[in-house]
Amino acid sequence: MKMRVAVIGAGPSGLAQLRAFQSAASKGAEIPEIVCFEKQSDWGGLWNYTWRTGTDEHGDPVHGSMYRYLWSNGPKECLEFADYTFEEHFGRPIASYPPRAVLWDYIKGRVEKADVRQWVRFNSPVRMVTYSEVTEKFTVTVHDRTKDVVYSEEFDYVVVASGHFSAPNVPHFEGIEKFAGRVLHSHDFRDALEFKDKDILLIGRSYSAEDIGSQCYKYGAKSITNSYRSRPMGFNWPENWEEVPLLMRVEHKTCHFKDGTSKDVDAIIMCTGYLHHFPFLSEDLRLKTDNRLWPLGLYKGIVWENNPKLFYIGMQDQFYTFNMFDAQAWFARDVILGRIKLPSKEEMMADSQRWRDREEQLQDAEQMIWFQGDYTQELIDATDYPEFDIEAVNQTFMEWEHHKAEDIMGFRNNAYRSLMTGTMAPPHHTPWLEALDDSLEAYLVEK
Ligand SMILES: Cc1cc2nc3c(=O)[nH]c(=O)nc-3n(C[C@H](O)[C@H](O)[C@H](O)COP(=O)(O)OP(=O)(O)OC[C@H]3O[C@@H](n4cnc5c(N)ncnc54)[C@H](O)[C@@H]3O)c2cc1C
Ligand SMILES: NC(=O)c1ccc[n+]([C@@H]2O[C@H](COP(=O)([O-])OP(=O)(O)OC[C@H]3O[C@@H](n4cnc5c(N)ncnc54)[C@H](OP(=O)(O)O)[C@@H]3O)[C@@H](O)[C@H]2O)c1
Repeated sequence: MKMRVAVIGAGPSGLAQLRAFQSAASKGAEIPEIVCFEKQSDWGGLWNYTWRTGTDEHGDPVHGSMYRYLWSNGPKECLEFADYTFEEHFGRPIASYPPRAVLWDYIKGRVEKADVRQWVRFNSPVRMVTYSEVTEKFTVTVHDRTKDVVYSEEFDYVVVASGHFSAPNVPHFEGIEKFAGRVLHSHDFRDALEFKDKDILLIGRSYSAEDIGSQCYKYGAKSITNSYRSRPMGFNWPENWEEVPLLMRVEHKTCHFKDGTSKDVDAIIMCTGYLHHFPFLSEDLRLKTDNRLWPLGLYKGIVWENNPKLFYIGMQDQFYTFNMFDAQAWFARDVILGRIKLPSKEEMMADSQRWRDREEQLQDAEQMIWFQGDYTQELIDATDYPEFDIEAVNQTFMEWEHHKAEDIMGFRNNAYRSLMTGTMAPPHHTPWLEALDDSLEAYLVEK
């Protein structure tokens, strides 16, 4: 009987896996039967925007954490697929920081071209995956939401590509239960206009805090206060934006911070990150990690060392995204196809530990980018994923960092050269702060 591979999730990581197999098939390889289970009614993962918060139309937790007016927070040149360029998709060069709808369109374009939609079962959350030492197969239990039927099937391999920016990490702060305003996590943030003319407090110092604060500033928040645990972000913020130490206590509308200062606010938005959450995996298969560049337990960041028939794609904290997921998916594919032979468990663990030791020495974002670049390069060297200039991608990330330090509200006005085609991106027709319409049509209009 033909081997069977289950892919859980049809976001950028799961779709990379489908494309990896289709690419091998298009070159004449025998590939297994691929079944991709996707909880939502369409593909694209987080990029498939939903207005819903809390629970979805079936009563399951909403996956989406993206919001209206979200633009890429890094240059598109750093995430470009090596086998499907922006120029191929849009038929011309486009600017460097596309809004969500444009990136969703791009992600979809590649898999539409590959014609793999028939491999995906939509509205199909995976409820449980177990492995039997006797049959040497996985049993995958799925809820078909369209027919409202729960069923199980057997697979030889499972690829977990369910993302890890969906289950919110929500800390408690003294008195917050009586706060006289709105409290939400970034997972439930949808529209900055809700906070127009409001005083808002953001907790956290990472990308969600930076970007949700910037959105709220752009769409007219009265003031933005940013409370950090470890250290401030330190950008040159606009006048109505301040960074303060950690929130200690809330009284009515007043927030008290660690340095003794306080501020009255209308809303508290927790930009406190996400949990790696796999309620559908049995204990022996479940990755447990915080959000970091090198989670342990995964050989080459992909292969579950305790059971190398299980793979995880995209589980690292991310500077590199789409093309790194590709590199991982091509690697997982080649293990499954028997093109890459795995070493012993001890050797796999020792290799992972070497990466972890290096990760623990990293001092700043620049070193983290070089680390993830080296990792992506190592994977690309192992497969037939099209080679691209990782060092030049790293340099583009360095420029991006520099542009952010220079002008945090204007960095998205910069343009970069494609590392895949060599074409320089045109500048966008409207400065980001003035571009209030985030639709694909508005972005692509030629002025
Ligand atoms: C707010 C926000 C903004 C971001 N902005 C950027 C950006 O500008 N640039 C960038 O490169 N990256 C950005 N990212 C990072 C993002 O993680 C990646 O771009 C990418 O979406 C990760 O792809 P993924 O497939 O691993 O996960 P996801 O996109 O999360 O997709 C996972 C998929 O798995 C499905 N799924 C989950 N559980 C199950 C289940 N049990 N059964 C079946 N299906 C399931 C989900 O429905 C979803 O479709 C952002 C992340 C967030 C949260
Ligand atoms: N396109 C965009 O513009 C955009 C927008 C938003 C998010 N994203 C993406 O979304 C992903 C997730 O980003 P994220 O910022 O949500 O998560 P994150 O990068 O994991 O950061 C989590 C933040 O929460 C803070 N935190 C955690 N627990 C806390 C506590 N108990 N008290 C105070 N602070 C606490 C951490 O503080 P310490 O650092 O002090 O530990 C950290 O600053 C990233 O990949 C990012 O690129 C992109």
